[in-house]
Amino acid sequence: MSSHVTLTLNPSFRVAPVRRRTFGAFVEHLGRCVYTGIHEPGHPTADEDGFRTDVLELTRELGVSSVRYPGGNFVSGYKWEDGVGPVEDRPVRHDLAWHSSDPNTVGLDEFMTWAKKAGVEPMYAVNLGTRGMEEALDVLQYANAPQGIALSDQRAANGHPEPYGISMWCLGNEMDGPWQAGHKTAEEYARLATETARLMRQEDPDLELIVCGSSNSQMPTFGAWENTVLTEAYDQVDMVSAHVYYSEKDGDRASFLASADDMDHFIDSVVATADHVRAKLKRDKRIMISFDEWNIWYQHRAESRPPSGDDWPVAPVLLEDTYSAMDAVVFGNLLISLLRHSDRVASASLAQLVNVIAPIMTEPGGSAWKQTTFHPFALTSRYAVGEVLDVRLDAPSFENQRFGSSSAADAVATWDDDAGTLAVFVVNRGADTPLALDADLASFGDLEVVEALTLHHEDPYATNTQAAPETVVPAANDSVRLEGGRLVGDLPAISWTLVRLARPAA
Ligand code: AHR
Repeated sequence: MSSHVTLTLNPSFRVAPVRRRTFGAFVEHLGRCVYTGIHEPGHPTADEDGFRTDVLELTRELGVSSVRYPGGNFVSGYKWEDGVGPVEDRPVRHDLAWHSSDPNTVGLDEFMTWAKKAGVEPMYAVNLGTRGMEEALDVLQYANAPQGIALSDQRAANGHPEPYGISMWCLGNEMDGPWQAGHKTAEEYARLATETARLMRQEDPDLELIVCGSSNSQMPTFGAWENTVLTEAYDQVDMVSAHVYYSEKDGDRASFLASADDMDHFIDSVVATADHVRAKLKRDKRIMISFDEWNIWYQHRAESRPPSGDDWPVAPVLLEDTYSAMDAVVFGNLLISLLRHSDRVASASLAQLVNVIAPIMTEPGGSAWKQTTFHPFALTSRYAVGEVLDVRLDAPSFENQRFGSSSAADAVATWDDDAGTLAVFVVNRGADTPLALDADLASFGDLEVVEALTLHHEDPYATNTQAAPETVVPAANDSVRLEGGRLVGDLPAISWTLVRLARPAA
C-alpha cells in the first residue's frame, strides 16, 4: 500500500467564499453551559454583569462567529418571558428535557449582552414544541421591534431601548425526534413552521428563517421529512437545519475516523432533497443548510445521562465529555467537510460552547481550559480566509465497517488572492500509517511556507485536563517544506495539519 497522499490544488477550483457563519457555536440552557459556564456572578473573573471574562476571552480566541440560543431540546419546553424583567421576579422552572431546574437568571437580554461582549452574532430558536405561533411572534417583537408597541416597550423598560436586530431564527428544534417535547409528524410540523414563518415575515420580511430538518441522517424519516417540510415551507424559509454527533462505538476506531464521510453524505443528501423540491415547485431560490448542531458526543457515557428521580438540580454536570487527540482529528475533519460544502452550508453551529460537549471547560470558581477540539476550530476559523478550494486527492484507502472503504486522507484549502495567502487543512485518518504529503502548488505562483502545525499525540486517547491542559496541542511540523513548487512533508497517523503559505513580500 502506498503511503503517499498527493493533493492537486488550483486557485480555479473555487467552491464558494469562506463564510464566517461556518464558525458558529451553541449555548443551551443545559448542564453547566450557561450557569457556571458563560455566567457565574462571584467568579474571580466575573464582570459587572456576572459573565466570566476568562470564558469570554476563550470564546474570542476560538473565533466563534455566531451563537445559537437557548436550545436545543430545552427550547421545546421554554417560556422565553420567564427570562426577562427583574431577576428577582423570575420563576424557577423544571426543564423536562434535561431533568433540571432553571432559575432563569439568564434570559434573552442577558444573552444579548453576552453576545455583544463576545463579538458574536446571535441565532435565536423559538419554541414550536409546547408552544406555537403567538409566542414566536411575541419573542420576535420583544427582540426586534422598535419601541412603540407593548413588547418592545417592555424590552426598553428592562433597560434595552434599541432593537436587537436578530437575523437568524430557528423554527423549533429537532421536531422529527420522538424525544422532543411536542414532537410532530412531518405534516404537522410543516404546517406549524410554515404559518409561524409567514407571520414572522409579516413582522420583518428580512429575517433568515431556519426550518427543522433531521436530527441525524440515521433517523427513519430522514429524506422524507425534508421533502415534506420543504414542500410546504419552501417559500417562507431560507435554510433547513441538519444535526449530527459522532463517537467511537464498540471500539470501531476505523469507522469513527471516517466520520466525515457521513457528514459529506448527509449534506449531499439534504442538498439533493432541497433541490428536488425546488424543481418540483419550479422555484429559483435555493434552500441552504444550517448545520446548527455538530460535534463528537459519547452519548453512552454516564456524564451524558440526565439525572433521574426526584432531584431537579440547577446546572448539573451533564454531557461533560473529555475529548481525546483522536476526537480532535475527527473534529478537524468535520470542519473540512463543512468548509468543502460552503456553497450550500450557509451557517453551522458547533454544539456546544462551554462545558457541555464543549471546546471550553470551566471549574466553578476556578479556571477555564481548552479541550483538544479547541485547537482545530480556532485555527480553522482564524486561517480559513478568501475562497474555499476543492482539493483533488489521491491517497490509500482503509476498510471500515460503516462506509466500506474510506480515503486515508482528507483535505480542503482556502485561497485569498488579494492577500496572497493559502491555507491547506489536511487529515491523516489512517490509524497506523504515516503519510508523505505531496502537493503541486505551481499554479499559485511563488509561495513560501509561513507555518505548518500538526495536532497529533502518540496516544490517540490522550486528553487535556484542568491539571494538564496542554497535553494535546498543535506543534510545529518541521518536515513540511516547499521543494521546487511542491509542498512535501510527513503526516503522522491520526493527525490534523494546517499549512499556511503566502506570497513572498515584494
Ligand atoms: O446538544 C445537545 C442536544 O443534542 C440538544 O439539546 C439537542 O437538540 C440534540 O439532540
